[in-house]
Amino acid sequence: MNLQLCDSHCHLQDEAFDKDREAVYQRARAQGIGMVVPGYSMITSERAVALASQFELISALIGVHPHDAKEVDAADLETLREWSSDPKVVGIGEIGLDYHYMNSPMETQRAAFGQQLRLARELGLPVSVHSREAERDTLDLLDEVPGIRGVLHCFTGSWEFAEALLSRGFYISFAGPISFKNAQALREVAARVPTDRLLVETDAPYLSPAPWRGQRNEPLRVIRNAEIIAAQKNCSTKEVFAFTMSNAYTLFSRVSCE
Ligand code: NI
Repeated sequence: MNLQLCDSHCHLQDEAFDKDREAVYQRARAQGIGMVVPGYSMITSERAVALASQFELISALIGVHPHDAKEVDAADLETLREWSSDPKVVGIGEIGLDYHYMNSPMETQRAAFGQQLRLARELGLPVSVHSREAERDTLDLLDEVPGIRGVLHCFTGSWEFAEALLSRGFYISFAGPISFKNAQALREVAARVPTDRLLVETDAPYLSPAPWRGQRNEPLRVIRNAEIIAAQKNCSTKEVFAFTMSNAYTLFSRVSCE
């Protein structure tokens, strides 16, 4: 399969795709789009691993989202460790902090994030990090686990936050919000992120880019996000395909893109 582009974060295991998952996958495959499918709970991590074994162009991430941090116990961490030996598991995610919804208490979120960061480092795997209204604590926790490699997924923060992540060796990934009318500041951040650190994603089924905002999203629409980046970088969409795919597969180095 000649891959053209990578959707570095899409939840194809989500029930939003129960009726037509195969068709959604085939639409992306027809355009040479590889897909990284992160878990967000134990069940959805297990489903991500199953999808990756079923579909050639899907790789899986396993991990528990901050929303469900209160559910994470020692047995779960052991299970994640076992699942990580599957060759199609390419990293730990999505993990992080969400102080906007606060579905789990802050302290619990920080504990679960820290435990999963340490697990990733021990396993030598990169992480996909979710951070909402928690920039300072996200950086502090990353600093507690030096040497961790990863990406800040669906970046919507300030240039200062981007710079702090870049200085820690992180990649920055942009999703549909970069296409929104009121997102000029975010587009300016994207313009400044070096091309060797930039990824694209859909975060499907969420965050459809304009002009499909509000509809169910799917991996095919990662093309739209790449077009927006191309306009910001004054380069061709093809070039964005090439550098974001190369970055995705450098970061998630267990994936083969041959
Ligand atoms: Ni996500």
